[in-house]
Amino acid sequence: MCGIVGYVGSQRSGDDGAGVGVVLEGLRRLEYRGYDSAGIAVVTADGVQTRKKAGKLANLVGELASDPLPAAATAIGHTRWATHGGPTDANAHPHVGTGGRVAVIHNGIVENFAALRADLAEAGVEFTSETDTEVVAHLLARACEGTADLAAAMRSVCTRLEGAFTLLAVHADAPDTIVGARRNSPLVVGLGEGANYLGSDVAAFIASTREALELGQDQVVTITPDSVVVTGFDGSPAQGRRFHVDWDAAAAEKGGFPSFMAKEIHDQPKAIADTLLGRVEESTGRLQLDEMKISEAELRTIDKMIVIACGTAAYAGQVAKYAIEHWCRVPVEVELAHEFRYRDPVVSERTLVVAISQSGETMDTIMAVRHAREQGAKVLAICNTNGSTIPRESDAVLYTHAGPEIAVASTKAFLAQITACYLLGLFLAQLRGNKFSDEVAEVLAQLHEIPGQVQQVLDGLEQVREIARYMADTRSVLFLGRHVGYPVAMEGALKLKELAYIHAEGFAAGELKHGPIALIEPGQPVFVVVPSPRGRDSLHSKVVSNIQEVRARGARTLVIAEEGDTAVEPYADVVIRVPRTSTLLSPLLAVVPLQVFACELAAAKGLDVDQPRNLAKSVTVE
Ligand code: F6R
Repeated sequence: MCGIVGYVGSQRSGDDGAGVGVVLEGLRRLEYRGYDSAGIAVVTADGVQTRKKAGKLANLVGELASDPLPAAATAIGHTRWATHGGPTDANAHPHVGTGGRVAVIHNGIVENFAALRADLAEAGVEFTSETDTEVVAHLLARACEGTADLAAAMRSVCTRLEGAFTLLAVHADAPDTIVGARRNSPLVVGLGEGANYLGSDVAAFIASTREALELGQDQVVTITPDSVVVTGFDGSPAQGRRFHVDWDAAAAEKGGFPSFMAKEIHDQPKAIADTLLGRVEESTGRLQLDEMKISEAELRTIDKMIVIACGTAAYAGQVAKYAIEHWCRVPVEVELAHEFRYRDPVVSERTLVVAISQSGETMDTIMAVRHAREQGAKVLAICNTNGSTIPRESDAVLYTHAGPEIAVASTKAFLAQITACYLLGLFLAQLRGNKFSDEVAEVLAQLHEIPGQVQQVLDGLEQVREIARYMADTRSVLFLGRHVGYPVAMEGALKLKELAYIHAEGFAAGELKHGPIALIEPGQPVFVVVPSPRGRDSLHSKVVSNIQEVRARGARTLVIAEEGDTAVEPYADVVIRVPRTSTLLSPLLAVVPLQVFACELAAAKGLDVDQPRNLAKSVTVE
């Protein structure tokens, strides 16, 4: 939420006048984090200048074309997801402190801003926006009056702020310096040659450098073209963790697809394959999770698992529950991270909490991780973003290797999360040596076939695309599933809501007769995710009965069924085929047509598939 970019260049980097261009490029790559407004500030020998505009980045670009900023080696930029104050030009960042010498951009929420604002107003400060950020700009301007040291001023201001913040500031007296600070919000440093960068995530500077520094909690960083200095809020020296970004700028481009989402859906075979890569020892066929920093002895004593996550990531957790309980015989609870810590959960040192997050920066999940650790649980993160907060604050991490996910709605990260959950379940089964452990190798072999099978699904989806275009005017769609098909149904509904703004609900098919069947009227489209007929007999036949029940009441049934499952045919208006695999692995295949359906339908309605209204990637506020 909110994208932040900072750049300091020099003659040595060959782009000492390129501040605006470099920062705009970074903002373009971060726009998925928020698109209510965008703004930029540059520092030159003449002082600080800003341009900012409500609406998408294109509006700022238009503004800069008619009223350009001067060439500058130092610039900061911001793309906003509005919290305090509507999406207007005045509320757009950067905000400038009294005297016009300091400019600030911010991601997060300053929770005590009202009290700070009242104090400043009483002291005669005039406000030009409704934001919490402007308070910081004025505080910083005042702190700078007593010192020429912008970092010292930032440290003193940070100690007065409550809540979550990433801040970047520039000062007219320090034209080659940017100072950043972070508490509970993301900030990474990009390390260049004669140039350094700051960003909410590495996408901000991936076109320029793949060397990065992860900052810790409550740290302040000062960058110039040739130096990066990190301290704690108390001024004590600190060090970030250096890492290499294992994807390049091309991975964050559309690559010929009409949208990032379309591209990311097509990236899914690779996302799964890369997440599996290197995790099975060739000689023994055993799973090897090198990053698993929780000891085997501790893992053997686990008597409960709790998955905490939000949105799509929580649906990955629900799929994991079925698989891990079956394979490991350990009870698994799945809880929305924002509910978890408010209900006094029963957690002990024998509980393994699994935090699933694509971004690693979802504030609700971060807070739940902290709560779980305070209660004595071990926390394992399943995360797609190196250098992010959730892995750093967890006891161990299992990275998904989906590559950068730019579209706001999650697709390939979801499949990679499910894959990582399977790896975790199989690893625990292997370790604990229960009656299932002999079957681990067989499931792993099936799992390695999934990338090719996802590709097969993708290659045969013209029918789904056509249906989506034909259904562009639909007002409501229902999704049904049982067992692992239930979270798939909910994920299908979520994709349709967020992308196409269509009312959609996912139900456990067995729950139909307890209420939701009242919604069925003639013509109501109902997607049904059908389990394999080769699995538990009763499960398949129950879902076939559910199809008949809705069909009998006039529903139009769109059925996702395994190749060769002829039992569904008499009751399906449309059958969408997926290849055969075991029931537990089937979500990786069954969800793909639903993703494509939502993406295609939204595109047919002329909507912005990558940046749906009111949303932002990486929800860094609670
Ligand atoms: C939906 C979607 C969200 C995220 C959720 C968690 O398409 O993308 O529901 O899954 O906000 O985000 P992460 O995984 O970054 O913690």
